[in-house]
Amino acid sequence: MINRTRRLRRTENIRRLVRENKLTIDDLIYPLFIEEGENIEAEIVSMPGIKRFSLDKVSRELDEVVALKIPAVILFGIPANKDETGSETWNDEGIIQQAIRLIKKNYPDLYVITDVCFCEYTSHGHCGIIHDHDVDNDATLVNMAKQVISHAKAGADMVAPSAMMDGMIDAIRQALDQTGFTNLPIMSYSAKYASAFYGPFRDAADSAPSFGDRRTYQMDPANRDEALREATFDDQEGADILMVKPALAYLDIIRDVKNNFDRPVACYNVSGEYAMIKAAGAKGWIDEERVMMESLLSMKRAGADIIITYFAKDVAKLLLKK
Ligand code: PBG
Repeated sequence: MINRTRRLRRTENIRRLVRENKLTIDDLIYPLFIEEGENIEAEIVSMPGIKRFSLDKVSRELDEVVALKIPAVILFGIPANKDETGSETWNDEGIIQQAIRLIKKNYPDLYVITDVCFCEYTSHGHCGIIHDHDVDNDATLVNMAKQVISHAKAGADMVAPSAMMDGMIDAIRQALDQTGFTNLPIMSYSAKYASAFYGPFRDAADSAPSFGDRRTYQMDPANRDEALREATFDDQEGADILMVKPALAYLDIIRDVKNNFDRPVACYNVSGEYAMIKAAGAKGWIDEERVMMESLLSMKRAGADIIITYFAKDVAKLLLKK
């Protein structure tokens, strides 16, 4: 007897009935780069379609996001001034704090998540305070706590710490709870790898380290078990959502986190993944739209509940047409 698995593939409607995974607009978070200054709407060369906006220029982009029914944005700030500690991150009048207030005032239902890190704000481009040529973990935690409280006071709906400091979720949860923000959730960049796929983002956010690299705090791409260790600590410290980053080269990690924790799993479809598809698509070497949908679907299949992606608007346009 031949096991005829092809029977259930014969027509589109039977394929619809047995389809196991689906990508929807509900799954998507759209990253936004907000730059301090005026009249800025700057194309990012390595990320076609993505721009850095100053606050006076960002409305059209936000109108579009809302019209496309994308539920959430994650904000990255590019400040006018950087210093050794990244002190602009906890300035209540800083660029991200202003952005949160503007968005919540004009688009109250759009869910606003903030990236909590320092690399765009430090003169050296590392994700914390430097002592002896390395990031000082515990001193950085103190500043992360100040940063999240400032984001929370400005009205952020969720914070997403990405610095890969040990104990960061515990420090942030305590800081939020002690200041009355017990209901503010944390999405942790739990397993964030030291990846070459972040290249275009560092141009976009002006955040490349001026010396060394991030391998003393971000994870070694060779490690899988360690990702579970990272996720375990974040789970215990009270992270509400666990994130894996990058996504496409780390689908095994997404599945591991999904199988081992009773928390929603997010993944970050990062700048390099976006750039590769856009570049090959522009050359006509791949069908951009289909490769985009197939890669994002693979993240759902791997176990992601939420996908942070620069493709969010493209996907939403496609799905709304159907
Ligand atoms: C750190 C941060 C980075 C990204 C998101 N948050 C850069 C880094 O760790 O160097 C990368 C996102 C992407 O490549 O799309 N603030």
